[in-house]
Formats: sequence, C-alpha cells, structure tokens
Amino acid sequence: MVPSIPALAALTCLGASVVVAQTHPTCSLTQKCPEEAPCCSQYGQCGTGAYCLGGCDPRMSFSLDACVPAPVCQDRTMPMTDTSRIVDVSKYLGDSSKADWVAQGIPLAYNDNVILTMPPNSVGTVLASTVYMWYGNVKARMKTSKDAGVVTAFILLSDVKDEIDYEWVGTELDIAQTNFYFQGIPNYMHAGNITKLSNTNAEWHD
Ligand SMILES: *[C@@H]1O[C@H](CO)[C@@H](O)[C@H](O)[C@H]1NC(C)=O
Repeated sequence: MVPSIPALAALTCLGASVVVAQTHPTCSLTQKCPEEAPCCSQYGQCGTGAYCLGGCDPRMSFSLDACVPAPVCQDRTMPMTDTSRIVDVSKYLGDSSKADWVAQGIPLAYNDNVILTMPPNSVGTVLASTVYMWYGNVKARMKTSKDAGVVTAFILLSDVKDEIDYEWVGTELDIAQTNFYFQGIPNYMHAGNITKLSNTNAEWHD
C-alpha cells in the first residue's frame, strides 16, 4: 500500500523518473533514510513533507528527530456524521486543527454516518487520527463488514509499530479478535477473542 503523496510527487517529476526513484529509497531498521529524504513512512519509503507526519518511524529515519512530532490529543468526541473533519492524505499538511482524520481510500458520508468504502480492486479505506494518544481511554462506535475476505479493524498504532488491535473478520459477525504487538514483532501469544457479540454488521457496537 503506497500513500497517494508519492504518486503526486511522481507526477510533478515526470520525465525524471530516475530522480523519482532516488527520492524514495526504502528504509528499514538496518537501512535508515538519507539526509535529503530523512523521513521513513509507515510503508518503508523515505521522503520529506507528508512522509514526516503520521506513521513516520523515527527508528528508520535519518535521525530520531526527523519525524514531525504529532500533536497530542485532548479529551473530546469526534462526530462521524459527515466527512467535514476528514482530509485526504494527499492534502494533509500536518495542521491537526483542520482535520481529525487523514484518509487513504474513499470515506463517504451516508445517513449521518461515515462509511469506509472498499471499491473493487482496492485495499479499502483507512482513517488515521491526526493526533496522538499517550495514554487514556478511546472508544469507537462502529459496524463491521459482513463480506467474506474483508476485515474491519480498529487499531491503536504507534510510529514504532506498537499495536493494540481489534479486528473483525467479515464472516464472523459475533467475534472480535484482539492482539497487541511490540515494535512490529509478530507474537500471537497475546491474541484474545471477544465472543458472543450480537451481529456486528447489523448493530452498532462501542
Ligand atoms: C479467534 O477466533 C478465530 C476464528 O474463530 C480463531 O481462528 C482463532 O484461533 C481464535 N483466537 C483465539 C486466540 O482464540
């Protein structure tokens, strides 16, 4: 999955594809980003601008302070009655006062709710909050997809890939699968299922 920023950058650099290739080197724990493209995105590509915002991994970036510090969230409710507080990732410049969520994919307003759509041949829609939570209590009211092969998820994800996951597999409308990870290391020993839920597609769950 590649955010749409690189696509835009490629467009503006048409005719200079070698340069484009060089401006987005890949990054990993053992290969940090170069100084001229210091930020390692969530998808393991180096760049500037949006690459330095949410998901920028300081461990894989040029230096530990290459990523832009994300604003810390405050106690509040973020209504999902329309898409006015959602901005596409290609347009987000890092001002969290202007948007609550950064979208990849196509979020749509429908009946006073927001649908995360999954058009054919797409990987679906992701909303990422524009603020960070250090600790606290977070809650989402949601319904899940009932389609086979589609996973609905609510995930707390740090920039160094710590995760607390809630996932719903499309055909299992009475189970929430949970897990947590430390720095992206797959460890399935912490998995736990919340079972006997009422239909998560038909009914709202908090
Ligand atoms: C959770 O439920 C899924 C689907 O029924 C199953 O495959 C998985 O093993 C369960 N995980 C745990 C930790 O019980």
